[in-house]
Amino acid sequence: MNKLYVNLGENSYNISFHSDFGKLLGVLEEIGAPKKLMVVTDTNVEKLYAEEVISLLTDGDYDVGCYAFEAGEENKTPQTVLDICSACMEHKMDRKSMIIALGGGVVGDMAGFAAAIYMRGISFVQVPTTLLSQSDSSVGGKTGVDFAGAKNILGAFLQPKHVYINVSTIKTLPEREIVSGMGEVIKHGIIRDEKFFEFLNENYDLINALDTDTLIYMSNKNCSIKAQVVEADEKESGVRAHLNFGHTIGHAIESASNYTLTHGECVGLGMMAASFIAEQRGLITDTDLERIILLLENYDFETKVDITDYEAIINLMLSDKKTISGKIRFVLPVCLGKVEIFDDVTKDEIVSALEFISNDGGI
Ligand code: NAD
Ligand code: GLY
Repeated sequence: MNKLYVNLGENSYNISFHSDFGKLLGVLEEIGAPKKLMVVTDTNVEKLYAEEVISLLTDGDYDVGCYAFEAGEENKTPQTVLDICSACMEHKMDRKSMIIALGGGVVGDMAGFAAAIYMRGISFVQVPTTLLSQSDSSVGGKTGVDFAGAKNILGAFLQPKHVYINVSTIKTLPEREIVSGMGEVIKHGIIRDEKFFEFLNENYDLINALDTDTLIYMSNKNCSIKAQVVEADEKESGVRAHLNFGHTIGHAIESASNYTLTHGECVGLGMMAASFIAEQRGLITDTDLERIILLLENYDFETKVDITDYEAIINLMLSDKKTISGKIRFVLPVCLGKVEIFDDVTKDEIVSALEFISNDGGI
C-alpha cells in the first residue's frame, strides 16, 4: 500500500493513498476499528459516495449509521456538531465507537470536533474527498467550527486514527474547488520544498488533467511536507505556524468577501501579498516573486481582487485568532522553500501589499 507514517508518539497514524475505496475495509481492520461506526458527511458527498462506502462497510459486518448535514461553510456551526452528536447517541455509539469523516474540510473539521467531545472523545478516521482536505485539513488533527462570525474559533486537537485518501474522488469536484485545493499544495512547496514547487510547475498538464498516478504522487509528497511540520510542532507553539503562510491576509479577504471567495482562492491572494512584502523587504528576489505569481496564475488563481476598504481588512486581521497581543503575525518567504515568522510588518507594508493584489490600486 502507498502510505506515509505520521510520527506523533501515541497519536501516530498512517495516511494511505488510493485510486478507489477498495482498501478501506483492510485499513479499518489494520487499525482495529470497532464494529459500530458513524459515517458523517454532507448532502453533496452523500449523493456521490455515501452509498458505496456504507455498503462496503456493511458488507464488512460493521454496524453503520450515517449523518449528512447540509453542505456549505455556513453550516459549519456548533449546532451541526450537536446534531452529529445526537445522531451518534441515536446510533447508540459508545466510547469505543468510531466516526468516519467522509467529505471535504467542513465535514472533517466538524466530524473531528464531534469525535473530540462525544463521551469526552472517541476515535475517528478521515476520508477526505476534496483536494483541499486531501492536501491540508485531514492531516494534523485540527478540528472545529465557526462561531459568532469567527472562523474555526471553537475547536480541539484530535489526530485521526488514519487518513484514507482516494484521489479519484476529486474528479467529481467543481473546477473552482480544484483551484482552491491547489492553493494549499503550492503553499507547501513554497514553505518547505523548492523541488516540489518545480514539480508542480513542470507537471501542470498531468495535474490539470487529474491523472491518477500523478495525483497520488503529488498527494503523497504534499502530505509528507504537512506531516513533517505537524511532527515538529503538533499543537502549533512554533513552526506549525509556517502553515499559515498566505492565511493572514487570505483569511481577512475570505471574511470580507462574505465567503463568496473560497478559502483556497483567498490563500492564493494572501500568498501573493505576503510574497510581495518579502520581496519589498529584500528577503526574496523579484525573480522568486515572479515565479510564485506565475505558478499561481498557471493554476488559474486570480491575481487581483476588489478591495475597497483596506482599513476593514486590517481590522479583520487584528481580530484573527493568529494575532497575538495585538500583533499581526506574518509568515514570509526568505527564499523558495523556506519561510520565517515576522511580527514587525508595518501598516504601510500591509497597505502596499493590498494595493499589489487590488484591482483598485489605492485606498
Ligand atoms: P467543503 O468541505 O465545504 O467542500 C467544498 C464543496 O465540495 C462542498 O460543497 C462539498 O459538498 C463539495 N464536495 C466535497 N467533496 C466532493 C467531491 N468529491 N465531489 C464533488 N463535490 C464535493 O470545503 P473544503 O474546501 O474541502 O474545506 C474547507 C474547510 O476546511 C474550511 O472550513 C476550512 O476552515 C477548513 N480547513 C481546515 C484545516 C484544518 O487543518 N483542519 C485546514 C484548512 C482548511
Ligand atoms: N492548516 C493549518 C494547520 O493545519 O496548521
